[in-house]
Amino acid sequence: MAPALTIPESVPDKLNVKPADASSVRPTAILHRTPWRPPVAVSADGLYVTLEDGRTVLDGVGGASVACIGNGHPKVTKALKEQVDKMSYVYNMQLSNEPAEELANFLIDTGKGAFALCGFVSGGSEAMEGAIKLAQQYFYETKQPKRKNFIGRQLSFHGNTVTTLSLGNHPTRRAPYVGILNTESFHHVSPAYAKRFQKPEETEEQYVERLRQELEDKFLELGPDTVVAFAAETVVGATTGVVPAPKGYFRAMKSVCDKYGALFILDEVMSGMGRMGTLHGWESFGDGVAPDIQAVAKGLGGGYASIGAVLMSKRVADGLRDNSGFWKHGHTYQANPLACAASLAVQKVIIEENLLENCRTQGAYLERLLRERLQSPNAAAAPFTFDIRGGGGFWGIEFDFTAPEASRVNFRGQAFAILVQARALEKGLICMGLTGGANVEGTKGDHVILSPAYNVTKEQVHKIVNLFVESVDEVLKEHAV
Ligand SMILES: Cc1ncc(COP(=O)(O)O)c(C=O)c1O
Repeated sequence: MAPALTIPESVPDKLNVKPADASSVRPTAILHRTPWRPPVAVSADGLYVTLEDGRTVLDGVGGASVACIGNGHPKVTKALKEQVDKMSYVYNMQLSNEPAEELANFLIDTGKGAFALCGFVSGGSEAMEGAIKLAQQYFYETKQPKRKNFIGRQLSFHGNTVTTLSLGNHPTRRAPYVGILNTESFHHVSPAYAKRFQKPEETEEQYVERLRQELEDKFLELGPDTVVAFAAETVVGATTGVVPAPKGYFRAMKSVCDKYGALFILDEVMSGMGRMGTLHGWESFGDGVAPDIQAVAKGLGGGYASIGAVLMSKRVADGLRDNSGFWKHGHTYQANPLACAASLAVQKVIIEENLLENCRTQGAYLERLLRERLQSPNAAAAPFTFDIRGGGGFWGIEFDFTAPEASRVNFRGQAFAILVQARALEKGLICMGLTGGANVEGTKGDHVILSPAYNVTKEQVHKIVNLFVESVDEVLKEHAV
């Protein structure tokens, strides 16, 4: 029997969460990312994952919005097996390879004319690190050496390397490393998060204009000819919990970049490659404004491979092609043949099985059920359900315990979202609970992300919502005072 994931009342770690019976936990030589040892998964099929204790749980969040076609898709496993038989590795500075060339063509051909070239890496942080360096290389090559400033946003996440943590602003993930983050070249403006930060007297247009003006003011403060790029997640993922920007925001922000000759970078590591119901998030949630540079990762390989990509517009590509002609950045595993073959197969499955449409349809159903079950007048969670937002197959549920009804519950210092995530896992659902998205300091807020695979069925959506709402209700009930 695996450890139950019930949560004791006093645990001296930050999150106050770990398995109740630590003695029953198998020892581990891994330094895990959680204060508790996560259960070991032994196999998976589609959206179902089997754990070491024999339990099978339903993955309602695709791991971390990664497994976009579930596990074990026969077309992808076949492609991977064929590729490993053919060729597992060549080094990208000596040889290119067929799957990498084909995947690159796919990304350019499906990019609605936005992209001229791409480069491969092995994940999201590497993709954003590559995007930052590519932008800097562009100005190096085009002889604008004064440009050395990047502008990101508060409450954003662009990866866990030192540079991507510097560009992003996820307070708890930055906290241990503030001493070594780069505050000289990386600057931040406000998040685009209307439900929390739009003023009551402001219209949406006025809010967007305020944010546009703030960005322009930041350019002027830094010196407009010193700015390399403004970078943003098209839909904010983990930090605030699936927050799309207000209408017109990206058009406005891009206009500032264009005015001063800086680049506009979109981080679609989490929200891209179909997650929003369109191949690129900016097609549906970014005013249709294509970036100069874009990072993609999670849905690119769907979990079958560690892969990310940096996509670049003709402007950036030409800047390099007219000068050195090559990307000065790289890694040993970039454009790995196995990773590219897996990714290509995932992308073909998405097209052949019309999964973007299914993602939109099931996402809309998920939203409807969540609203019915969490926000109807009789719902136990209604007073605490601050917002349900998202699109396509990417949904965030934010809870708030500042209403008068909050005096009816006491979580004894534990984070509600983490309690819900743990309870859901016990009940057979994987979801992602996160904290700290409700204020710019990152000290308040509870949200949970649901982002099932694009091939989720209606029945599975129903099951995901049932298990999720039951978990929310149980945690509320058990902490009633
Ligand atoms: C928007 C965004 N950018 C970058 C990253 C970093 O990606 P990875 O964890 O693959 O390094 C993430 C990961 O969640 C992300 O959500």
